[in-house]
Amino acid sequence: MSVKETQNRVKMVSYKVTVSTAIPAYATTLNNVFIKLVGTDGESDRSWLCNLSGPLAFTAGKVSTFTVLCPVSIGKPILIELDKKPLLLFREDSWFPDKVEVECPDGDTYNFPIYRWITDSEVHRFREGTALRVFEDIHHLGRYSRELELNQREKDYSWDVYSEGMPHNMKVEGPLSLPCEVRFSFTKTTEFGFTALAGIAELGLKGLSGSESSWTNMDDLNRVFCNKRTDISEYVQEHWKEDAFFGYQYLNGVNPMLIQRCTALPKNLPVTDDMLFLHGQRSLADEMKKGNIFLLDYKRLDGLTANIVNGKQQYLMAPLVLLQKTPDDTLMPIAIQLKQTPADDNPIFLPTDSEYDWLTAKLFVRSADFSEHQLNVHLLRTHLLAEVFAVSLLRNVPMVHPLYKLLIPHTRYTLQINFLARLALISETGVFTKFASSGGEAMGTILKRSLSSMTYSSLCMPEDIAERGMEEVPNYYYRDDGLKLWDIIQRFVEGVLTFYYKSDEEVEKDTELQKWISDIFEHGFLSQKSTGIPQRFTSVAELVKFVTMVIFTCSAQHSAVNTGQYDYGGWMPNTPISLQLPPPTTKGTTSEATMLNTLPDVSTTVQGMSTVWLLSKPSSDFVTLGQFPEGHFSEVIPWELMKDFQGELEVLSAAIEVRNRKLDIPYTYLDPAKMENSVAI
Ligand code: FE2
Repeated sequence: MSVKETQNRVKMVSYKVTVSTAIPAYATTLNNVFIKLVGTDGESDRSWLCNLSGPLAFTAGKVSTFTVLCPVSIGKPILIELDKKPLLLFREDSWFPDKVEVECPDGDTYNFPIYRWITDSEVHRFREGTALRVFEDIHHLGRYSRELELNQREKDYSWDVYSEGMPHNMKVEGPLSLPCEVRFSFTKTTEFGFTALAGIAELGLKGLSGSESSWTNMDDLNRVFCNKRTDISEYVQEHWKEDAFFGYQYLNGVNPMLIQRCTALPKNLPVTDDMLFLHGQRSLADEMKKGNIFLLDYKRLDGLTANIVNGKQQYLMAPLVLLQKTPDDTLMPIAIQLKQTPADDNPIFLPTDSEYDWLTAKLFVRSADFSEHQLNVHLLRTHLLAEVFAVSLLRNVPMVHPLYKLLIPHTRYTLQINFLARLALISETGVFTKFASSGGEAMGTILKRSLSSMTYSSLCMPEDIAERGMEEVPNYYYRDDGLKLWDIIQRFVEGVLTFYYKSDEEVEKDTELQKWISDIFEHGFLSQKSTGIPQRFTSVAELVKFVTMVIFTCSAQHSAVNTGQYDYGGWMPNTPISLQLPPPTTKGTTSEATMLNTLPDVSTTVQGMSTVWLLSKPSSDFVTLGQFPEGHFSEVIPWELMKDFQGELEVLSAAIEVRNRKLDIPYTYLDPAKMENSVAI
């Protein structure tokens, strides 16, 4: 180095740059990494990040520090440009940096969150972490990079229509065409791949998957089931025939969403007091008045053409069920009509009928519940909505926006799991299409009807509970835990959003926020005003409510309707995926033999069991609600709010655990410690 060069170097302004690479082993890059610092007053040259660690500076988990020299001060850092190039003879590899910190000569440190893959040699720009709405992003370079980012995202995340009448989804050619940032991790891919292939083998059912014969006795079914049990699935196997357990499931099983208080008898359910109550002891009108009567109405399944499975016509009913709360707070089914239109060949079944008449009627209700739950409650109202929320966020909201920082943890793995669900479950060759009674043509109709009957209020738990008249029912743990969770999430969201949005006017003028909601209205709810979904936000309160609903749906609600799938569906007779005989048209024609012939055949049973097993199994890189392993926020307040949020979730989790100790069937699906941040399975 010449004397002049040394003098110049002494005059140079020095920036300390610290780069953190993510922990998993595959996050490492051995390529050369370059950085350019861009600030309000100038920029550095593109500088090679080189220190004594040499090529090992960017290995997994490593935090490496470098010096970047500039001829003059760059002012306040706005963004960094990162790129990497392989050394000669080395191949290009993929790198997952967590963040970069830049310490300026005045000692101030600026944080640049990254948390995404860099797989190529292109230049990638990352903004300084302080959240900025579009109207406060005033520096021209900041605005320019914001625009570039959104232009790229619009290309990476485009809308597609899988089937008319369903919410739109992300256009994906195959799992490897998904942008890296939203793909499964290596752990998740290996575990999920293993489970998908080995589901049937894991359950020890390999030899049975080809058998299209009916079950001939319950012992065979018991034997098949004994390979994999959970505490609850075992309980289900023992109690599935009992009326009290049948009623219990509508409060705390996998579908706690259909039951509603009945204040007036549906016109198409002509039950009379004489049918229900002996010797005129009670009247239905009185019982309804007291709030003791509840209704399950599967009207969305009416008039559908059921599937053909293994060459045999299947049967799917659209039942109406009345339940009564007894003085000891048990919910007992008291009448079942299996089709919507009253007729002589559509008897109203009663608990006083023969054992198998009543059991068969309940079987058809449980099988209808499989379709209602999987298509409406699980697929549409959690998976497909979560995808819409995520795609709209990724297309319209840049990383530096506070909404991106708040919601990105709740999008993890959703795009890939939904792609796989379309491929493996509901495509022409999917398990659901091949084996469920509502697979194929009926599925499209159910999804369309479900979407057109979906309302914003039914997605907001406090309103949903009130609308269904379910505020007072005892032992409704889904409601008890869910309302507390809603409240905790709501306060957290309110804290974060009111830190950034000081007035309704700020919400109104945030064009990115408005584009996020208008895309959700258009692509998620197909512009149906009757849903009540906002088309734009006019106030902070409205924004807080909607974002609360988004986080609740992706975490709590999905957990409530997903986690118990094997618990309640593993023992097949409790939730048959399909049924092979029509329901009895007159009373007194059923027996154990007719029930066994009605149940799905052996191969259908095995496919159903392995699917619910797979869908109930979280991966080991599960991130629980309230955990934020990625540090997208740079301000102190959001971190303090996250800490409070975690504290409140812990208290709730502990209270749920204490409550559960006293229960025959613990209700764990809304325990925050056991639920994932996002729809990931
Ligand atoms: Fe799920």
